[in-house]
Amino acid sequence: MPAATSSVLQQPDSPSASAPISQLSATAPRADWIAAYETVRTETERRAAPLSAEDQLVQSMPDASPIKWHRAHVTWFFEQFLLVPYAADYRIFDERFPFLFNSYYVSAGPRHERPRRGLITRPDVETVTAYRQHVDAAVRALITEADNALFATICSILEVGLHHEQQHQELMLTDILHAFAQNPVLPTYDSERRWPETAGEGGAFAELAEGVQTIGYDGDGFSYDNEGPAHRVLVGPVRIARSLVTNGDWMRFMADGGYETPTLWLSDGWTTVQAEGWKAPLYWREVDGAWFSLTFAGLEPVDPNLPVCHVSYYEADAFARWAGKHLPSEAEWEVAARSGLLDDAFGQVWQWTRSAYLPYPDYRAAPGALGEYNGKFMVNQMVLRGSSLATPEGHARHSYRNFFYPPARWQFTGLRLVDYH
Ligand SMILES: [Fe+2]
Repeated sequence: MPAATSSVLQQPDSPSASAPISQLSATAPRADWIAAYETVRTETERRAAPLSAEDQLVQSMPDASPIKWHRAHVTWFFEQFLLVPYAADYRIFDERFPFLFNSYYVSAGPRHERPRRGLITRPDVETVTAYRQHVDAAVRALITEADNALFATICSILEVGLHHEQQHQELMLTDILHAFAQNPVLPTYDSERRWPETAGEGGAFAELAEGVQTIGYDGDGFSYDNEGPAHRVLVGPVRIARSLVTNGDWMRFMADGGYETPTLWLSDGWTTVQAEGWKAPLYWREVDGAWFSLTFAGLEPVDPNLPVCHVSYYEADAFARWAGKHLPSEAEWEVAARSGLLDDAFGQVWQWTRSAYLPYPDYRAAPGALGEYNGKFMVNQMVLRGSSLATPEGHARHSYRNFFYPPARWQFTGLRLVDYH
């Protein structure tokens, strides 16, 4: 299989080869912090570079955001949480921007309606670029000039701001692909871009013996609050698939009437299949009897050997039932991944688990606006593990908990199976 042509799509199979921002501490040289900041900010602009001003404005559905909005929102995050409280001489770039570019932080003030972000023609992309440069200069100055006591206070905000921006880098790609899928001419984001190399398919299952295991983040680097506290869980015995479910597997599910068999589906899933007319993964198109999929490089034939992608939790659950197996719990996934039992755990597709997105035992959100980051979403969503081909380098961890609503399909989402026999 062809390797990715761009380093952004290549993800180490083990997250141990992490980017500098996962290892920085308050005592790290300030030059290292500035370098980390520049690296992340530059990557955002690199992802936006192939896109015109028109591309950057479009909002194809309420769940997706315009690229211009992403570029401004991650900038507002540094302005709101780092510069305004801690940079004594900081001048807000534009007093109207906090209303436009606050996402969901109720504690940070009123905000524009999410579904109407695509109507914001002004500020234009050049002004957003100027906003980014204004904030970049102020953050660089703050990092350079803060005394040690102040820097010890602010480095955790700087750090979460960088990881936050990396999350939006992934969303930029998922959102623009969804926007392009609405365009009958099927635009190309990068004609050279190919799916990253996989470990390949295989029917092998790895044994996970019964035992009490620890899951959750317990290291010294960065993690989101929802990854802790680390705690003990009973796992196994279970057999977990080393490989991801492939497009070929999915074609067999479709050919066997998977989308037309109500007994395979959860009630909410079947209602959604009927309402949305689902017959295949989100970006698949049937052309003269053959399946194609919209990719970053345009419409490409579906490769049966690659992991299936852009399927919802409902579809993943139905597929597992059809296969006579199950989705893993997030604990089973994490223990298996830490044990090196999973191929393509990272860098291909986020993998649905059957675990609801709930707080770990004794989880408490941080006080203040940043406490709204994860905790308030802990209902009605399902956990995904691993990372995808769109996840920035160094952003993945064994303990990382992604989460989406069960019908969501526009993320790079797939699955692997478990069996209890
Ligand atoms: Fe955000």
